[in-house]
Amino acid sequence: MDHDAQRVSVIGGTGPEGRGIALRLAMTGLEVCVGSRDAARAASAATALAARLPGAVVTGTDNAGAIAASAVVVLSVPFRHAAETIEANRAAFAPGTLVIDVTVPVVFERGRPTLVAPAEGSASEHLRARLPEEVRLACAFKTIPARLLEQLERPLDCDEFVCGDSIEARERTSAILRRVPGLRPIDAGGLEAARAVEHMTWLAILLNKRYKSHEGRFRVAGI
Ligand SMILES: NC(=O)c1ccc[n+]([C@@H]2O[C@H](COP(=O)([O-])OP(=O)(O)OC[C@H]3O[C@@H](n4cnc5c(N)ncnc54)[C@H](OP(=O)(O)O)[C@@H]3O)[C@@H](O)[C@H]2O)c1
Repeated sequence: MDHDAQRVSVIGGTGPEGRGIALRLAMTGLEVCVGSRDAARAASAATALAARLPGAVVTGTDNAGAIAASAVVVLSVPFRHAAETIEANRAAFAPGTLVIDVTVPVVFERGRPTLVAPAEGSASEHLRARLPEEVRLACAFKTIPARLLEQLERPLDCDEFVCGDSIEARERTSAILRRVPGLRPIDAGGLEAARAVEHMTWLAILLNKRYKSHEGRFRVAGI
């Protein structure tokens, strides 16, 4: 597959969060490539997603193929498996690829969500240390619940925090988010802001439990 700027790959696009992101991006006219450890699983997920969006181009292949296929790669696998996913597919990242990290280091212990912050301070900083140097990294989509992303008739109607390892990473990511109706990107600055963003996702999970919702998310007042 060629490396296309109008195509976004979603690693873990077979899971609920990745599926939701893939759908919302495909709705904006971007071509989407679903990545999976299993090419057949990716292909069948892509077929199911495309069936929901007549006219959309959604394909699927293995993780390495998906990473190589796009200039923008969304990483939507469980945080505890994200570093090994990068390592297993290291050679597939072309220089200049933008990786958008969605992972949140929350674990559920007997049903109780707990944030397990990595030594680097956040999941995004942990992954930055493990990605090839010539790849750019941004954090986004971390506070948007899968359940809402997948309900395409519902507007997202929220803000999303974007931080990154460079202005370029933040601007490219914000431009993608701006395509999605009802989603306003908020530039939170350098990658260290991912520490706050990941805590906010944890907070959203706690609020969802308390208020029996699946849709808690954020809107910043005053900006
Ligand atoms: N769910 C939400 O509402 C939500 C909201 C915000 C952020 N997030 C974050 O988004 C990410 C994805 O969430 P999710 O709920 O969609 O997760 P998930 O369903 O648990 O996993 C997503 C995909 O990751 C791949 N995967 C699973 N185990 C793996 C392993 N050992 N090694 C490599 N890949 C593996 C699987 O794809 P294949 O088997 O096809 O390879 C799976 O379909 C997580 O980091 C989560 O913290 C989730």
